Amino acid sequence: MSIELAKQMEEARSYIASKIQIAPKVGLILGSGLGVLADEVEDAVEIPYSEIPHFPVSTVEGHASTFVFGKLSGTPVAVMKGRFHYYEGYTLSQVTFPVRVMKALGIETIVVTNAAGGIVPEWEAGDLMVIRDHLNLMFRNPLIGPNDDRLGPRFPDMSNAYAPELRTLAHEVAREQGLELREGVYVGLTGPSYETPAEIRMLRLLGGDAVGMSTVPEVIVANHMGIRVLGISCIANKAAGILDTPLSHDEVIEITKRIRSQFVALVREIVSRLK
Ligand code: ADE
Repeated sequence: MSIELAKQMEEARSYIASKIQIAPKVGLILGSGLGVLADEVEDAVEIPYSEIPHFPVSTVEGHASTFVFGKLSGTPVAVMKGRFHYYEGYTLSQVTFPVRVMKALGIETIVVTNAAGGIVPEWEAGDLMVIRDHLNLMFRNPLIGPNDDRLGPRFPDMSNAYAPELRTLAHEVAREQGLELREGVYVGLTGPSYETPAEIRMLRLLGGDAVGMSTVPEVIVANHMGIRVLGISCIANKAAGILDTPLSHDEVIEITKRIRSQFVALVREIVSRLK
């Protein structure tokens, strides 16, 4: 990270600010199959990532890759429909650049969502999980390099990386909606291959409850910049070795489609209370 980063953030921020009327308070990152929430945004202004200065250029066809700005349940939001993954070949500074730009636009809170494999044997595909904490098993960190002290501290505290009050709020809303909401530890790996059964047994021993290929870098950068984080995983499958069936990305998309309406209702209501 360098002084250059702050300049790039400002160029991206001012480009976006010139196109939107609102000042976003909450950022949302929508994971695989969860992009439908962006369709609920009112007075939406869409800005493809490819138009924004210094955003990475997406090489993957068919992946949503656009920012949606507007109001969700009355709250001004910046919604990322599609994210950048490390396994696509981006650096972690590229993966996390949009989080920095959302902060520059004024967000104070971010809701980070993903599709993940369930490690807890009793959990079913289609369950939703609030992230209590994470294990960074990507073995790399987006903050490596010179630190720009204007953006955040050299050694950010991660003891409450997922804000306790937001976890409580998520559980309150879920209870009101009659939705069973799990809570657990998200393990971030690089992917793109899914884990082996032996790796899943290891992750369970290490204290993991769900596993995926995103989220951790964005949450580290959000904490670096003082953004409050709520993380929600959609358990898209039982991780390898729990059942005897192979994992597939099609299944991930299928399951996220099935629980879309519950996911949308939950996040909408949480966001409405984040004013
Ligand atoms: N994303 C969705 N399901 C996953 C799994 N089983 N492992 C890693 N990432 C995933």
